[in-house]
Amino acid sequence: MSLVIAIDGPAGSGKGTITKLVANKLNLIYIDTGATYRAITYLVLKNNIDVTDNKKIVQLAKNSNIYFNEDGNIFVNDLDITNEIRSKEVSSIVSQISSIVELREIMVDLQRKMAKDKAVIMEGRDITTVVFPNASYKFYLDASVEERAKRRYKQNIKQGIDMSYDDILENIKNRDYNDMHKEVGALKRCDDQIYIDTTNLSIDEVVNTIIGYIEGVD
Ligand code: DC
Repeated sequence: MSLVIAIDGPAGSGKGTITKLVANKLNLIYIDTGATYRAITYLVLKNNIDVTDNKKIVQLAKNSNIYFNEDGNIFVNDLDITNEIRSKEVSSIVSQISSIVELREIMVDLQRKMAKDKAVIMEGRDITTVVFPNASYKFYLDASVEERAKRRYKQNIKQGIDMSYDDILENIKNRDYNDMHKEVGALKRCDDQIYIDTTNLSIDEVVNTIIGYIEGVD
């Protein structure tokens, strides 16, 4: 059957981790839409395309086959780029690439096709508002900007990445601004989302809260 659980939220709200855990517990297919924008960004860099050449970028997206395998790895034209899309280079321009309106139309179409006739949990910025405004359940995960910076800081330390807390905080504030001020597909709150402030909640508490809302659906 077709079931869509849609989750939006800002960078560092824990969406990725939480969505994956809920997917595992409820046996849903996990779709990370940020990864699809990262995949195109990876291709733009790999093909040395000018990041301001919207026409070429849109053409590239039309000619590329982007998909996830059963393990959630992302492929483009049969090449596994799961690790490559997390590079610093991709991260630094993905926000700009994901602002291209015509590109977003292609990606939204792709994301809808990925969910067709399946039971999925999909996370991103515009899933509850644009991709699946009529999703079975719509969640907005949030946390204070300071808490999100703190989480990213701890994560970086674990991964050996050296960046000060203040720089991370600044970076997250910039990302929030970009995400919330896109011409199309901006991160937005709306009345029918279930809003969860995760600032003072553990990962398990958030996972259980979400499952509590959707329990009984199969
Ligand atoms: O979630 P993430 O950081 O991997 O997302 C990468 C970029 O893509 C980020 O700049 C936000 C953007 N994005 C978007 O515009 N729409 C989505 N549905 C998901 C991500």
